[in-house]
Amino acid sequence: MAVEKKATLVFDSGNNIELPILSGSLGEDVLDVRTLGSKGLFTYDPGYLSTASCESKITFIDGNQGILLHRGYPIAQLAKESTYLEVCYILLYGETPTPEEFATFKDIVTRHTMIHEQISRLFQGFRRDSHPMAVLCGVTGALAAFYHDSLDVNNERHREITAFRLLSKMPTVAAMCYKYSVGQPFVYPRNELSYAANFLHMMFSTPCEEYVVNPVVERAMDRILILHADHEQNASTSTVRTAGSSGANPFACIAAGIASLWGPAHGGANEACLKMLEEIGTVDRIPEFIEKAKNKDDPFRLMGFGHRVYKNHDPRATVMRESCHEVLKELNLSDELLDIAMELEHIALNDPYFIEKKLYPNVDFYSGIILKAIGIPTTMFTVIFAIARTIGWIAHWNEMYTDGIRIARPRQLYTGYTEREFHSQIPKKSDKA
Ligand code: CMC
Repeated sequence: MAVEKKATLVFDSGNNIELPILSGSLGEDVLDVRTLGSKGLFTYDPGYLSTASCESKITFIDGNQGILLHRGYPIAQLAKESTYLEVCYILLYGETPTPEEFATFKDIVTRHTMIHEQISRLFQGFRRDSHPMAVLCGVTGALAAFYHDSLDVNNERHREITAFRLLSKMPTVAAMCYKYSVGQPFVYPRNELSYAANFLHMMFSTPCEEYVVNPVVERAMDRILILHADHEQNASTSTVRTAGSSGANPFACIAAGIASLWGPAHGGANEACLKMLEEIGTVDRIPEFIEKAKNKDDPFRLMGFGHRVYKNHDPRATVMRESCHEVLKELNLSDELLDIAMELEHIALNDPYFIEKKLYPNVDFYSGIILKAIGIPTTMFTVIFAIARTIGWIAHWNEMYTDGIRIARPRQLYTGYTEREFHSQIPKKSDKA
């Protein structure tokens, strides 16, 4: 990495610290503050608004220009000209696969979609009305107990085997979460189907009836997976990296990522968005909710709008919007919630408040609508995000080991009590006597 520029930090009138400024291949320069701690100073940046937590070669985002590149390839090109499994290969290995490499990769992923039969018994321990994200989180963490033959995180081949296992089995576990919640038997994967179609098959087929996958729906599902595959150092990926930095096993790290993803400000937004549409209820109530969103004293926010990084437009949302309209046209559905969503999109895109604050519909707004149209229950939305993001989490976890790893250990700005003497207020046994 080039270190051509330097910055000087002057503090306590006269104390100077020279800090290198690092330049990546794209994006803002980065002030290297690693030596500050040894000089008795720390940086303070809650929410990591100005902090790069690591070096990475996987994904680049320029939030102002709406650019998202995976290994250098623009997301719109990948979404239009590639498939989810090819994107997985690119994220994991860094290059586009040759036809032979891809055939081998696809074959391995396809042939490892079944999970250890005993895992199906784990599900019985969960209440049927559990949220599928709770079950997914638990079952994913428990996979370490079944696949402990390859858990040496310092062994490159073990990491690769784990990557295949997670990528192959996540849709199976996810579909099982759904089947368990509706009391239907688990459906085994089918090897002749694509990754996306296989997931839909495991979700919707029953022993009485095979689900026939509509190619438009299959393509839309594949796009949802591509568009959610990775997003550099977001909350869940940073969680996976942090968990992994202690040497924890990969299944535990991915379970931690799933837990982080679940929050409504992150992957839970697509579910929260649909709940919001339900709460709005009818098109004529939209203005009321728009006013609530603008009111500073009201905590209500329009779910599926805004983004921490994209302050212009979300390039994933542009592609997802296209797919969304394609699916709605193909399925020719008449649904009040979808009408509300389309009207909300129209109003928010034209309202000065949202335009000024650069609050555009994000990828989860459109993916939520597509999933609803396909017939996926709302509680499964974030589960599908988790299936897609698994490859991103693995790629980052793997990169961390390749690059050399240090335990993540942030410091703090302490604002609690200074030292004081302890006097217990609890009576002691001897006091009673
Ligand atoms: N509705 C109404 N106002 C909003 C919204 C919204 N969805 N999002 C931001 N604002 C306002 C906010 O009140 C603030 O106003 P002011 O400047 O007057 O204080 C301003 O816009 C900036 O907001 P912020 O909270 O400083 O922005 P942030 O970068 O911290 O938060 C966000 C980003 C995504 C958490 C937020 O926009 C939000 O809560 N959106 C709804 C949830 C959502 O859709 N999340 C999914 C993100 S995409 C999936 C993913 O990558 O995980």
